[in-house]
Amino acid sequence: MAQVIVENVYKSYARSQGNRNHQSSSAKPQDLAKSKQVSVLRDINFTVDDGEFLVLVGPSGCGKSTLLRLLAGLEDLTGGNIKISDRLVNNLPPKARDIAMVFQNYALYPHLNIYDNIAFGLRRNNQLLNTHQEGSIKNSVDNLLVRATRKFPRSLQYISEREKSIRDRVRYVASLLQIESLLYRLPKELSGGQKQRVALGRAIARKPQVFLMDEPLSNLDAKLRTQTRAQIVKLQRQLQTTTIYVTHDQTEAMTMGDRIAVMNNGRIQQIATPLEIYNYPANRFVAEFIGSPPMNFLPVELASPLKLMHQDFELDLPEAWKSALQQSQTKSFTLGIRPQHLSLTEESRSSIQIEVDLVEALGNETYISAHLVSDINATVTLSVPPDKLIAIGDILWLAVDLNKIHLFTVDDGRAIAL
Ligand SMILES: Nc1ncnc2c1ncn2[C@@H]1O[C@H](COP(=O)(O)OP(=O)(O)OP(=O)(O)O)[C@@H](O)[C@H]1O
Ligand SMILES: [Mg+2]
Repeated sequence: MAQVIVENVYKSYARSQGNRNHQSSSAKPQDLAKSKQVSVLRDINFTVDDGEFLVLVGPSGCGKSTLLRLLAGLEDLTGGNIKISDRLVNNLPPKARDIAMVFQNYALYPHLNIYDNIAFGLRRNNQLLNTHQEGSIKNSVDNLLVRATRKFPRSLQYISEREKSIRDRVRYVASLLQIESLLYRLPKELSGGQKQRVALGRAIARKPQVFLMDEPLSNLDAKLRTQTRAQIVKLQRQLQTTTIYVTHDQTEAMTMGDRIAVMNNGRIQQIATPLEIYNYPANRFVAEFIGSPPMNFLPVELASPLKLMHQDFELDLPEAWKSALQQSQTKSFTLGIRPQHLSLTEESRSSIQIEVDLVEALGNETYISAHLVSDINATVTLSVPPDKLIAIGDILWLAVDLNKIHLFTVDDGRAIAL
């Protein structure tokens, strides 16, 4: 098991400008070869503790897979350091890093059965097994016997010491993942969820110091996703292997990780426990990305030390905001309110008047999408109990739970910390 330290990591790719120049009539041959550096990861710093489960989450294209590939050694760093259990691995090839990566598309060998798929990495690398090195006379005899009995029925085949320890490891992993009955099938004879478990099994069998998983559940249907999600978390607790798990799904991030690192545009926006991220998002991006349905945002002005004004309503803030707001340079803010923190109320100076656009009844709660009566472009989502009968076009008044609001600066979206 291991700690993973990422220090000041940068990654850029050379992107050829050949195509654009090609269309221009003034293109010179030397221009075609020119390329521009495109920065994909910037200033990435974090430590994953021994045995920790860290989830990397962010929108498509933000650099999650690139970061994972750098950790795995599948890409070269542009700058910075990566350490795995105190060992600088910047220049080590993937094989020497003692990590196992699980990809989104399983990457199973189609011509090998499940047993051999799981055993593959073990057979290739003697150091993964605690058996004696090959080369002894015993090994030569073993190999001969294995070859001579290979065509026999399985119960009569000779099994070498080495193959015995491989078999023990494969069976252990298969029982962990409940795939014992699938061991002698080919990948094409398995469902997506079963293939996914085999891919996990192959990673687990190698007993790596670190698991890297890149959206391993994205090919599964919703129910299987939820099941496998729970299974991965349980397994990780059991094995205590340091794990970095990539997803763009905020529910997976919230439910799986000891900590979450939220990424956007090649930078880490915040790294903290799921509840810290949910309750104290560091900026507007994190506030909007984590939580479902997403947080609502409305522009407000600070009219007096504890009074927020919007063109439609005014809110008296709790005392706790006083010092944070006094220190602020500006009087304009973005007010953030989660859908769960709005409720139906009567008309008043502090309530928000909306017109309902959409009603989504989920059974246990109902989501209402609406816009402010005063501004058709200002949209608001809220959650109401399922017994409330609300129809499209209804005009409603909303109360804000003042103990749950968030304020962000208008220019860079930073959260005002209480
Ligand atoms: N080999 C490459 N050459 C040039 N640009 C690349 C290369 N690989 C990735 N990129 C760019 O780097 C950015 C980050 O890509 P990456 O695959 O890490 O995103 P991601 O967060 O994993 O997205 P997704 O959720 O869609 O998988 C993207 O803008 C992508 O186009
Ligand atoms: Mg990706």
